[in-house]
Amino acid sequence: MTEAHKAHVQSQFGRAAEDYITSPGHAGGADLDRLLGWGRARGADRVLDVATGGGHTALGFAGFTPSVVATDVTEPMLHAARRFIDERGASGVRFVAADVEALPFRDASFGVVTCRIAAHHFPELLPAVRQVCRVLVPGGAFLIQDILGREDRELAAFILEVEKRRDPSHVRAFTQREWAAFLKAAGLTVIDEMVMEKVREWEQWTERMRMSEPARADLERFVLAAPPAYREAFDFKIEGRRILSFTDRMLLLRADKD
Ligand SMILES: C[S@@+](CC[C@H](N)C(=O)[O-])C[C@H]1O[C@@H](n2cnc3c(N)ncnc32)[C@H](O)[C@@H]1O
Repeated sequence: MTEAHKAHVQSQFGRAAEDYITSPGHAGGADLDRLLGWGRARGADRVLDVATGGGHTALGFAGFTPSVVATDVTEPMLHAARRFIDERGASGVRFVAADVEALPFRDASFGVVTCRIAAHHFPELLPAVRQVCRVLVPGGAFLIQDILGREDRELAAFILEVEKRRDPSHVRAFTQREWAAFLKAAGLTVIDEMVMEKVREWEQWTERMRMSEPARADLERFVLAAPPAYREAFDFKIEGRRILSFTDRMLLLRADKD
């Protein structure tokens, strides 16, 4: 990851760290339950949570795993996650600042690696997936949740513009086919997958990234001026000229190391 992109990520998430702790969409949901279900079924003594954000995935795994390592490239995020997890009395969680492209761990040192709601920030997916594969034991599981990239180019371009205006550190969401190809190239095989919908409440979603009022108004004008078919594809709920919410798809994958 370039220093410029890293600085972007750290500035976006550093100032919003506390909001990620309290965000309902991060705190839990059917997607986190599915990752935890896959994790329980696989079972592992050591779990690595990459791009831990507020630490909700790490906390969930700490409930049934002796050792969890939570990593993130944004140090204020890690501090917030540590405070949040400590307050809940969870033991066995360690916090390590790390870029997913350079994980400071030995080969084959984790039975499960998780990465939830984060891969769309990675400048490139393949180096990240290769690192994850390297630190997994043979037969270990990589559990992923991220925004599903659209195959339709126009829809993909529309939602990418919305996402980037809200969060300049957003790179792009990968399609199901891209994920499968990158995982395969890194030495992982998809053994389970599903798609879930997630509603984004507009106020919360734009506020969490500390958008300025003019930037938010600009983004709203952009959405309202888009072809109706684009808005329908993401189920934008609009009252008058006020955007209430939209719905996007999340991809969940379990891929095991060959
Ligand atoms: C939305 S949060 C993650 C949410 C969290 N995984 C959860 O389950 O609630 C995205 C996080 O990805 C981190 N991140 C972005 N790029 C990264 C990278 N290259 N390496 C490690 N962490 C990264 C950001 O610092 C941020 O904390």
